Amino acid sequence: MKLQGTMQINSAGNLTIGGLEVTQLAREFGTPLYIFDEELIRNNCRKFYEAFAVGEGQSEVIYASKAFLTTAMCRIIASEGLGLDVVSGGELYTALAAGFPVEHIYFHGNNKSYMELCQALDANIGRFVVDNFSEMELLSRLAVEKGQVANVILRVTPGIEAHTHDYIRTGQIDSKFGFTLPNGQALEAAKRVKDLPGLEFKGLHCHIGSQIFDQEPYGEAAAIMLKLAAEIKESTGLLTTELDLGGGFGIYYAEGDTPPSINSFAQKILIEVSKKAKEFNLPKPKVIVEPGRSIVGPAGSTAYTVGSIKEIPGVRKYVAVDGGMADNIRPALYEAKYEAIIANKANLPAEETVTITGKCCESGDMLIWDTKLPKVEVGDILLVSCTGAYGYTMSSNYNRLGRPAAVLVREQNADLIIKREDYNDLLRNDILPARLICTK
Ligand code: LLP
Repeated sequence: MKLQGTMQINSAGNLTIGGLEVTQLAREFGTPLYIFDEELIRNNCRKFYEAFAVGEGQSEVIYASKAFLTTAMCRIIASEGLGLDVVSGGELYTALAAGFPVEHIYFHGNNKSYMELCQALDANIGRFVVDNFSEMELLSRLAVEKGQVANVILRVTPGIEAHTHDYIRTGQIDSKFGFTLPNGQALEAAKRVKDLPGLEFKGLHCHIGSQIFDQEPYGEAAAIMLKLAAEIKESTGLLTTELDLGGGFGIYYAEGDTPPSINSFAQKILIEVSKKAKEFNLPKPKVIVEPGRSIVGPAGSTAYTVGSIKEIPGVRKYVAVDGGMADNIRPALYEAKYEAIIANKANLPAEETVTITGKCCESGDMLIWDTKLPKVEVGDILLVSCTGAYGYTMSSNYNRLGRPAAVLVREQNADLIIKREDYNDLLRNDILPARLICTK
């Protein structure tokens, strides 16, 4: 397994993160346990901040909170000078509870409800990324009723195919997201914003997909969007002062993954935006990007305890851990690949090939197929790396498993940032109708 961030192997052969032994964290907080490396989260934020020259006022980097969000995470993101992308009332509520600076909150989503739009207007958030005509009309009406002006960025589907899994691809034409560009809907949307009261047009947005390993589609997207900006200017007079090119920057999960650096993504985008703005004779817009995975993915890992081990001679050896698809649905959903290490045998050589499975009642509950590890024994602490993005946020209570705890480690300090769900939490929303309470 490739070591990430502050991961090290100490002289006792134990894996450490933030200077703390993973086995010790497992003892103290239990397993499964999400472990977040604060230094790596902050370093990733800083890489984006610098690569996009945020300090010079050219750009804004907004963290896509769907990747991982808690109030603690909000505080870290705010303290690194990044904005926040939220896609629901729940994410917005979390950001507000954490005291996130409202002017840097961007509200996305293809079906924002009446209540969510009211919540966002009342909070006075920075930008509404408007996805469709019905939302636009509702937002206009609500803003007028409240005597406000909502700052609007239009989400556009540019028709770009980025190489990624079908479920996480969003920029192609046949998408539930945004105003379609090639059929003229996007231009129509800009005209409508201009005419509707209570809305102020700020710019354009697109998101071409996720876990992308190629800079080229970002350049293409920038070019297409600026061409649209030129058309919008010509037919409405509206200026695109902000261009949000979404997130999707790929990360390393397992051997064979070769993501470009954040800097090379940034260079591609910034150079293309400058070039095209000049070509179309437009003022250079502020560039916005929305990384989620590339901020928090490599900074999170999951510690499990090895339970049963089943060997089918000549076929396969299954090593079952005390979590699985309930805390990490990505292998089952996207065939996502991960790497693992035995935290208490971190410097021992690999000597067997095993398949790591979860404890859910489902054959598809696999974490890693055929991985090489030192001899695995019951009670070992297995750590799966790069689970920080879309692990906790897509977790479930399948099989009535409580969601794991999460700790934030930094300089030999561990702070609990999400408490483990216990049996009471599982019953919290159950209601037992009186007629079912049987005395017999
Ligand atoms: N902006 C928009 C509008 C998005 O839809 C997304 C992700 C992002 C930014 C952040 O993308 P990132 O930088 O994290 O790739 N559950 C899937 C990923 C779905 C991504 C959805 N949108 C997974 O586990 O891979």
